[in-house]
Amino acid sequence: MPVDNLLDALQTNETAVFAHRGASAFAPQNTLAAFELAAQQGAHGIELDVHLTRDHQLVVIHDATVDTTTDGQGAVAQMRLAQLKKLDAGAWFSPQFANERIPTLDEVFAAVGDRLFVNVEVKSAAPGIENAVADCIRQHQLESRVLVSSFDADVLRRLRACTDVPLGYLFGIASQSQLADMANFCAALHPWHERVDADLLQQARAAGCLVNVWTVNDPLRACQLRALGVNSLITDHPAAVLTALESC
Ligand code: G3P
Ligand code: CA
Repeated sequence: MPVDNLLDALQTNETAVFAHRGASAFAPQNTLAAFELAAQQGAHGIELDVHLTRDHQLVVIHDATVDTTTDGQGAVAQMRLAQLKKLDAGAWFSPQFANERIPTLDEVFAAVGDRLFVNVEVKSAAPGIENAVADCIRQHQLESRVLVSSFDADVLRRLRACTDVPLGYLFGIASQSQLADMANFCAALHPWHERVDADLLQQARAAGCLVNVWTVNDPLRACQLRALGVNSLITDHPAAVLTALESC
């Protein structure tokens, strides 16, 4: 996929593959190790989750607390970056990854932003998070390589007010009118894969939206979704999905 622009890449005939929280089947989710492994496995991009710390730094972690994916406890929003950086974010997964740290969005962009497209999922509605994401993308000059997604329609509306980067609306279940509303300002719909069928693809296309689907780890389902014409697959296992797509 020899294109440098995320929207162009999504519109080629090749189904793009985004590593969900990095290559999270093989490395601790949302760490630099998982993102580097995604690149090694040949993923076109990564998906990651962001929260805002107490001192207004963007950190890459899925949950609102550190309890599940580090050796610490507490709410991310109540902790300062310096406290979060003391936590081990890898040993819970395997001793091989001991001493991995929670990365900042800034660190991820610096490490892989020139090699991998990045789908930033905004996980909280903390005041100022949308401007912080927009500023970080701007500082790294990654406007053409990043897509920002959220389950929260209001977060997406506030993002639209502060950045021109493509937006993706995440959903499990949504009404036709909700989707039509979001399609007015989002470049992409991001449905749960079990909700994807020919009708949804037709509605998305009629609204001018791309369709990026999560979380697809089954090779057979990957081929079915490609046949339906989705633009990208978000997977924990990029190597397996890329192999499947070669032989569909
Ligand atoms: O962005 C797709 C997917 O990551 C949404 O669900 O819970 O894995 O963040 P979750
Ligand atoms: Ca996510």
